[in-house]
Amino acid sequence: MMTLYYLDNVNYSYDGQKLALSVVDLAISDTGLTAVIGDNGSGKTTLGKLLAGILKPTFGRVLLQGQDTKEMTLGEIGNRIGYLFQEPERQIFAPTVEEELSFVLKVKGFTKEKINDMVDEMLTRFHLEHLRKNFPFYLSRGEKQRLALATVLIDKPRFIILDEPTTALDIKRKAELSNILKELLDENIGMMIISHDYQFVTKHATRVIEIDGGVISHDSCNPKERANEPV
Ligand SMILES: Nc1ncnc2c1ncn2[C@@H]1O[C@H](COP(=O)(O)OP(=O)(O)OP(=O)(O)O)[C@@H](O)[C@H]1O
Ligand SMILES: [Mg+2]
Repeated sequence: MMTLYYLDNVNYSYDGQKLALSVVDLAISDTGLTAVIGDNGSGKTTLGKLLAGILKPTFGRVLLQGQDTKEMTLGEIGNRIGYLFQEPERQIFAPTVEEELSFVLKVKGFTKEKINDMVDEMLTRFHLEHLRKNFPFYLSRGEKQRLALATVLIDKPRFIILDEPTTALDIKRKAELSNILKELLDENIGMMIISHDYQFVTKHATRVIEIDGGVISHDSCNPKERANEPV
């Protein structure tokens, strides 16, 4: 177990006045499931976007494996972690479901056979085979959510950040996702899951962080231990 992220005195403001997030110090492990819970508008997505490098702190530093995200490109960060947006439409842009899935693999230069195998595996795992040739824009919300998740997982990131992954999933799909996450945890993939769904997210959680009004109001991990973790 290693520290993947370290937040050092991080403040974020969208408008230059009101703080959407203020974190004095926070270390996130590269293993286990860190659950982030909190009310609407509490700052959960802001935290996720800061970790994914989509937002850069107004003040302070977000360190990914000791490196300041301000000095990293989104591509460099994306090579180390996978990120699922709260709105799945944000990461869907290809003309067909299968092209959506294969896009990142083509960029990374995998062979055609390998790409086909990986795409088929994801289509099966997320029950999307029958939609392979469909235009992603017209998928149902739950299907889009599953496609976005499959797209995040297809190139096997070592750590994933999922923002509200159960939104729009029915009970059956939610249970399946829970099983998939358990499998990933068993494969030693670390994750941070942001969710309103307390029961879902705490089922496999190794740590629960609660955010309230932009600050961490509860952390199941002892803050003294946190402070002593190596960066
Ligand atoms: N692009 C933006 N511009 C201005 N303010 C924003 C923007 N995005 C978020 N905010 C504000 O920042 C605060 C935190 O928002 P954030 O999206 O992080 O909350 P959240 O905990 O993810 O909420 P939810 O549970 O509804 O997803 C809120 O007050 C929100 O209105
Ligand atoms: Mg949010």
